[in-house]
Amino acid sequence: MDMPTKDEITALLSLVEDPELQRNIVDLGYVEDLRVGNGSIDVTLRMSKPVTPLRQAVGDDAKARLQDAFPGVAEINVDVVGPQPASAQRAARQAASQKGPGTLPGVDHIIAVASGKGGVGKSTVATNLAVALAQSGASVGLLDTDVYGPSIPTMMGVDEKPGFSDGKVFPVQAHGVSLMSMGFVVDEEDAMIWRGPMASGAINQFITDVVWGELDYLILDLPPGTGDIQLTISQKLALSGSIIVTTPQEVALADVRRAARMFAQVDIPVLGIVENMSYFVCPGCGHREEIFAHGGGRASAEKMGVPFLGELPLAHGVRASGDIGIPVVISEPESEHAKAFMRIAAQLSGILAER
Ligand SMILES: Nc1ncnc2c1ncn2[C@@H]1O[C@H](COP(=O)(O)OP(=O)(O)O)[C@@H](O)[C@H]1O
Ligand SMILES: [Mg+2]
Repeated sequence: MDMPTKDEITALLSLVEDPELQRNIVDLGYVEDLRVGNGSIDVTLRMSKPVTPLRQAVGDDAKARLQDAFPGVAEINVDVVGPQPASAQRAARQAASQKGPGTLPGVDHIIAVASGKGGVGKSTVATNLAVALAQSGASVGLLDTDVYGPSIPTMMGVDEKPGFSDGKVFPVQAHGVSLMSMGFVVDEEDAMIWRGPMASGAINQFITDVVWGELDYLILDLPPGTGDIQLTISQKLALSGSIIVTTPQEVALADVRRAARMFAQVDIPVLGIVENMSYFVCPGCGHREEIFAHGGGRASAEKMGVPFLGELPLAHGVRASGDIGIPVVISEPESEHAKAFMRIAAQLSGILAER
């Protein structure tokens, strides 16, 4: 017996309307599965809302039309099913993002350095981790996504334009790390007045047009907080995870929890928490002072069930090195603060190697 084609069946289904939305079920994307067997037609309609009697009636209508049009077909089934559970939707989204623009060819791990608010030392941590990883022999990129307040050019001591050719952008090299920053492209004052969509557009270009080559790690220095740019990045790129930087005191830790929630919503694991400005050792007398209290980062990490990556002291050299553009792991490699950065970098690469 001659069976109807899928096109013929789809044409008929497109005459069936969802009475609530007053659009046909094909345009609404309800036809999840359509099989034509030997003497049978099986259709699955996936509703975007739970199945009510009214929505079930849509399936009955579809079945009646198919039976009328193809009286010779012995068996016609139209199943009406509700929306997929959130977990399945999430898995589907993740699968799509992993094969789509999500991965960067040649880049093994993309790690976002984030914080709930500004001024906690995110860029300082991002630059020193990038340089420490590069010094351990890895190939490393550092992308400054803080388009409103790019600080990587200053902290890495470069004021150079990246190379452009054939619509591609070639990163700038400094201290063994490949760099890209909005600060290379526009003046800081110009960056300040950018609107959200322009900023997101620039980020998209950084993601698609920068030629990173083979990298073991690409570190992203995120802007503070949980805004549009963070969202664009977490949707566009398949990140290995995030590092959240905080200062030790209670108000800062509330921001950590907010940042962690944002990453949880987009299924990005928190690889660990870094407590910056943990303590200050007086260079004159050696007295240790805990200016912002101490231990909050570790306590939050334990509460959230994520690794605590370590503490960084408040040190004159850290600030001064950032200002002159030579990260402290290079300018004062024997200092306690430089060693603290190196330990965190080693712990991070250990965590990523186990993935
Ligand atoms: N551990 C530290 N010791 C001393 N100064 C620090 C330390 N961490 C950050 N700073 C300084 O604090 C300021 C803010 O740090 P930055 O990395 O720009 O923060 P963020 O990127 O989170 O806004 C910078 O001047 C930086 O040099
Ligand atoms: Mg910063």
